[in-house]
Amino acid sequence: MASFGTACRHHHSVRGQICGMFSGKTHCPSLRRGERALESCYGFVSPSGRVRRARAGERRRRALSEFLCTLRSVTTQRLKQDQSPMPDQRPGLFIAFEGGDGAGKSTQAARLAESLESLGFSVLRTREPGGTPIGEKLRSLVLDHGHGTIDPRTEALMFAASRAAHASQVIRPALAQGAVVITDRYIDSSVAYQGAGRDLGTVDVRRLNEWATEGLEPDLTVLLDVHPGDGRDRRTAGDAAEDRLESEPDDFHARIRAAFLELAQARPETYLVLPAKDAVEDLAAQILRRVQDLLGSRT
Ligand code: TYD
Repeated sequence: MASFGTACRHHHSVRGQICGMFSGKTHCPSLRRGERALESCYGFVSPSGRVRRARAGERRRRALSEFLCTLRSVTTQRLKQDQSPMPDQRPGLFIAFEGGDGAGKSTQAARLAESLESLGFSVLRTREPGGTPIGEKLRSLVLDHGHGTIDPRTEALMFAASRAAHASQVIRPALAQGAVVITDRYIDSSVAYQGAGRDLGTVDVRRLNEWATEGLEPDLTVLLDVHPGDGRDRRTAGDAAEDRLESEPDDFHARIRAAFLELAQARPETYLVLPAKDAVEDLAAQILRRVQDLLGSRT
């Protein structure tokens, strides 16, 4: 049996192994060797390769069925290994704030961090793009005007690169130490802005980011839902100039809003969706209550 395991590792695609073996058309030499070794050990092919026809029949049928069972379990195991994200052994809690520009995420993220700290929790507040030295450099490259044309795929990769560093260097280590990590934006922002806003496709952009983060997902996403017009009014009320993304027209921001709401509808158990125009105090109280529930259910 071990020889078959060795044979598997030589082959490129597990799916290919299954198709090839079950249709009897494998061309992989190491797989063929594994098959012959098995046949030989069950006695219906001599080590020299000559078929002992007289000993075929029932014995051969049983051996072949056992062989296929082993094959199925080895390949199923390999498929699981290939597809499963990095194992998550995290005692902390991971919360992402999402929403259109001008939704007030930063204010609510700061409020939540203060409340949790005053309750004695260890809290890490961070943001995207950014959160690491390389991420902050990428942030200014991708958001500031004046770096020439940044095409949508380049833009998506820059956000994903910042996120990869953020997830591996900051978020995972903090979660492993038991902290509550609060991030201002995460994967959903890329799915909404680059997938829907830039029209790159939400499925492809999600896949890129799952790869970048090795499958690290928030325990809770707080979505502050803002109408594009309200968001623009809030942004332009201050002195700060709009960045590359903020300065896109309202229909771009409308696509983003719809994409965020769709994401929340698809997995309501991990989202808290609140209208951004509600009073700051009310929003803060609702968010804290939901997070306390989550923390309570874990102790
Ligand atoms: P944000 O930090 O919310 O802006 P501000 O500094 O005004 O609070 O986000 C910066 C911009 O980057 C925002 O317009 C959304 C955009 N963005 C994406 O397009 N994709 C992403 O993956 C992320 C994280 C942000």
